[in-house]
Amino acid sequence: MVSSDLQKQIECRRTFAIISHPDAGKTTLTEKLLLYGGAIREAGSVKARKSAHHAVSDWMEIEKQRGISVTSSVMQFEFDGYKINILDTPGHQDFSEDTYRTLVAADSAVMIIDAAKGVEPQTIKLFRVCKMRGIPIFTFVNKLDRAGKNPFDLMEEIENVLGIRSTPINWPIGTDGDFQGVYDRLDKQIELYAGDESHGARKLSVIKGAVDSPEIAAVLAPHYIERLKEETELLDAAGDPFDLDKIRAGELTPMFFGSAMNNFGVESFLKKYLRFTLPPTPRVSSEGPIPACSDVFSGFIFKIQANMNPAHHDRVAFMRICSGRFEKGMTVTLTNTGKLLKLSQPQQFMAQERELIEEAYAGDMVGLFDPGVFHLGDTLASPGSRFTFDSIPVFAPEHFARVYAPDSGKRKQFSKGVSQLAEEGAIQIFREPDAAREEFIVGVVGVLQFEVLEYRLANEYNTGITLDRLPYRFVRWVAEDTDVTRLKLSSSTHIALDETGSPVILFENEWSIRWATENNPGLTLSDVMLGRIKA
Ligand code: G4P
Repeated sequence: MVSSDLQKQIECRRTFAIISHPDAGKTTLTEKLLLYGGAIREAGSVKARKSAHHAVSDWMEIEKQRGISVTSSVMQFEFDGYKINILDTPGHQDFSEDTYRTLVAADSAVMIIDAAKGVEPQTIKLFRVCKMRGIPIFTFVNKLDRAGKNPFDLMEEIENVLGIRSTPINWPIGTDGDFQGVYDRLDKQIELYAGDESHGARKLSVIKGAVDSPEIAAVLAPHYIERLKEETELLDAAGDPFDLDKIRAGELTPMFFGSAMNNFGVESFLKKYLRFTLPPTPRVSSEGPIPACSDVFSGFIFKIQANMNPAHHDRVAFMRICSGRFEKGMTVTLTNTGKLLKLSQPQQFMAQERELIEEAYAGDMVGLFDPGVFHLGDTLASPGSRFTFDSIPVFAPEHFARVYAPDSGKRKQFSKGVSQLAEEGAIQIFREPDAAREEFIVGVVGVLQFEVLEYRLANEYNTGITLDRLPYRFVRWVAEDTDVTRLKLSSSTHIALDETGSPVILFENEWSIRWATENNPGLTLSDVMLGRIKA
């Protein structure tokens, strides 16, 4: 029997990641959510960090030089009695495998779409990871204050490109730069858009009313109402009805229209998001699902960040708590080895700032000091537990380089450094079947990781690197029983081995992938490797 306090603490928790293509408005929306949650008083602080956080950051030198965040962070705020964790997914040049892995720790995702641009490439990649996990995906169509695509076309695009049907929760009134507000289809209320002097720095007060109410008629011209009625009738007749079970199963995305910059639609989005989502649900483990509300504490490591403080060469392992209560100084077992550990310096993160914490609950993320004992995917649990959570999948890198030590006297450090960075998940390594032991093909999701690799080899392993970029853009894993030597492949295609020694195929373009599948009946190619990072 778990205590009612534990139950209360866990039931009020919600953990999500925001996925989007750069510039769709992720930073702006995050900031507005923090504003509504009272975590910040005026918008502008997250943004300021994004462009100038070298002032507060003691993270990797490379971050300081570039003024960007190489790592994902976690933000927590409270709203309406809920405790909400937002996992930041790095974008831009710092897009990396970490971005994907962060999604493994989230219980749901908010997908931001720029109304004018529609579904963009990075959104597609991130969406696929969420879809694979079957987590609920909420769509926020942003920048409604500007001219954008027709909302019906956006619904169609989401279905055609992402393969998920949508159900608009609200519907825009007046598009193409003539934005008047939204109609909430569930509450049957119109919410009128009104900018204020603060340009979104403060919370917005909105005029609300039923479609045919005098308050609305007083400010909204009849032609807007006529068009709204026509469009909502069409939606009611031809669109997907609201279905909470499908939303929670990740089969239907509730769609919201708004303008993060102007705070419009942010609060109503947040309220509905909290209503539609569930607290942390049971996580699959080797001993069946582990309920979040449990006296047994458990969690898994989803990210390892080295060098957070270059002066100390420290590593921080980020743990997602899956069940029970976490307490500073508690002893847990690393379930794959049975080793006992005392977790003495837990930290919580607010953007780049960290603070020591005393306790945390299922749904929360905690940073643990890592003296080198943690691996990605490790399960930590109350002593005596033996279960392991599902392993974290390996996602296909998109940039490749052949690397070796320029100085033959440094080969040993070089191999050690590259292998350790691969173990941390910063890079992936592949080998050509007949290559020398110190020669690797390195694969990364974002090109910045090459610079991170170079920097860290120089700073932590005291070795240089020669890095020859390769033309491949795709790696595909094959089914275990495939005899790769018998495959018919186009001339630019290359066979290599992954870290576990399993064969992979490197392709330069999508055409050669198609050629391979067309010319080798029965060949299955996968861009995700499940179960490779063993817990
Ligand atoms: P990101 O984190 O997804 O990369 O996007 P970010 O929030 O930084 O937003 C990208 C740009 O889009 C910013 O403009 C931001 O102000 C703008 N933006 C965000 N939400 C809205 C919106 O609802 N309406 C409009 N019209 N613009 C929006 P910027 O010019 O790059 O930066 P700034 O100078 O405005 O800060």
